[in-house]
Amino acid sequence: MKQKIGIIGILVGLIGLLYAFKSGAFSSPKDAYVDMKLPDQVDYNFHIKPILSDNCYTCHGPDANKRKAGLRLDLAKNAYSELPESPGEFPIVVGKPNKSAIYEHIISENPDDLMPPPDSKLALNSYEKN
Ligand code: HEC
Repeated sequence: MKQKIGIIGILVGLIGLLYAFKSGAFSSPKDAYVDMKLPDQVDYNFHIKPILSDNCYTCHGPDANKRKAGLRLDLAKNAYSELPESPGEFPIVVGKPNKSAIYEHIISENPDDLMPPPDSKLALNSYEKN
């Protein structure tokens, strides 16, 4: 009798576990941002700058000693100018995300190109990328 109850207990446990998997209890919460509504009007100072300053300025900001690839994203002039280390490419081309290096690097699926770099422990969620 005791053995039977034990087996039933295990079965119930397994079914519960399967159900939890199916209903997404173990899926990563990362994409909770996918459904977040974008603002009707995107404002640079309010919406964009905080994302850049939190995730990019450590390596592409005012501190010249920590700056990587000679790229500054805190000044509009630099953000629109040719990349010092990649002639012919521009960080931001107004109205043309597909020609903008920062966009390419933000959506890249190649960890060698992805910005912020994965080993920096920084990452943009899907809302910030959008
Ligand atoms: C921890 C440091 C670090 C952070 C944070 C970081 N980057 Fe970078 N970034 C680098 C390094 C290092 C390179 C140069 C990579 C190479 O040349 O292989 C680079 C290169 C780039 C390039 C290409 C430059 C070129 O000359 O081709 C772009 C564009 C870029 N980063 C954008 C960003 C953006 C946008 C963010 C924030 C969303 C960001 N990076 C955050 C370190 C960083």
